[in-house]
Amino acid sequence: MLRGPPPQELEIDSIRKPIPSRGIVRMSQSPTPNASPYPDLKNQVALVLGAGQSGNPKSKHWGNGAAIAKVLSTSGAKVIACDVNLDAAQQTASRIQASGGVCDAAQADVTSARDIQRVTDQVLTKYGDQTQPQNRLSQLPCRSPDHGRQGSGSIINNASIAGMRYLGKPQVAYASAKVAVMHFTKVTGVMYAGKGVRVNSVAPGMMYTPLLEMLGNSESDNDREVYRKITDHNVPSGVMGDAFDVANCVAFLASHSSRYITGQNLVVDGGLTSSTGTGGVPAPSPKL
Ligand SMILES: NC(=O)c1ccc[n+]([C@@H]2O[C@H](COP(=O)([O-])OP(=O)(O)OC[C@H]3O[C@@H](n4cnc5c(N)ncnc54)[C@H](O)[C@@H]3O)[C@@H](O)[C@H]2O)c1
Repeated sequence: MLRGPPPQELEIDSIRKPIPSRGIVRMSQSPTPNASPYPDLKNQVALVLGAGQSGNPKSKHWGNGAAIAKVLSTSGAKVIACDVNLDAAQQTASRIQASGGVCDAAQADVTSARDIQRVTDQVLTKYGDQTQPQNRLSQLPCRSPDHGRQGSGSIINNASIAGMRYLGKPQVAYASAKVAVMHFTKVTGVMYAGKGVRVNSVAPGMMYTPLLEMLGNSESDNDREVYRKITDHNVPSGVMGDAFDVANCVAFLASHSSRYITGQNLVVDGGLTSSTGTGGVPAPSPKL
């Protein structure tokens, strides 16, 4: 997000003090530091890449990127829902507009530097210097040169617990790409920290999105087997998550409330990667 002005409550920032020995700036000295409204995305702009969703366009469920766009919009941000599939982006924008949110649709392939530059330029032309890319795809993140130029912003990449554990499916390329997303996040988080740009990632676990719904309803035995394996995981919390579990974490990472967090990966998995697979109760099938 290329940031807009911070909320009024954050004027406590003005009492930041330098620490001479280290040459860094101490965060707020207030007894109630960083007591910002949560999430604080008013007057900000969010560029969500991969904001469409697979499967039945009329599904009542939300894909991760679509839900991220929705939650950022509900939190006050102006959203650009961008997807390689323009119809899918427009579907998300329509759902958000229907509930009064501000959301444009755009088309871009996140693997294309030219596409990303084009859509970034469009957003900057429309909104000036207040934009937040939510790169939520398995492909490596978009380049965001304009964040450094304007001096602040938050980038959130979408990883997966597949980049942390073997999940029972031989997805070598997917798992390798996801671990790369997490390390990319760590490295770029450090590289851009001094420029006021934060870079974090979320790693969803077993989330019920329209993609999963499609696998469950597929005529392919292989797809249904993948669905069975995903929904049979022994998640300690006893339930699958959904896209809003991911989206709410993204809203936090996008907001000023997380201003001191960068280069981190936030796992959203109901405890799955913390368990040995024996400590929880079987996850019931999702209610359809
Ligand atoms: N659903 C889960 O359980 C789960 C778990 C872990 C991680 N994830 C991650 O969450 C993300 C979304 O998952 P989902 O279940 O919502 O999937 P989805 O297929 O419903 O949504 C993905 C969207 O990304 C778009 N897209 C694909 N390639 C693109 C490209 N090159 N450029 C721009 N847009 C592109 C698709 O058109 C689609 O609209 C993925 O990165 C996935 O790896 C999902």
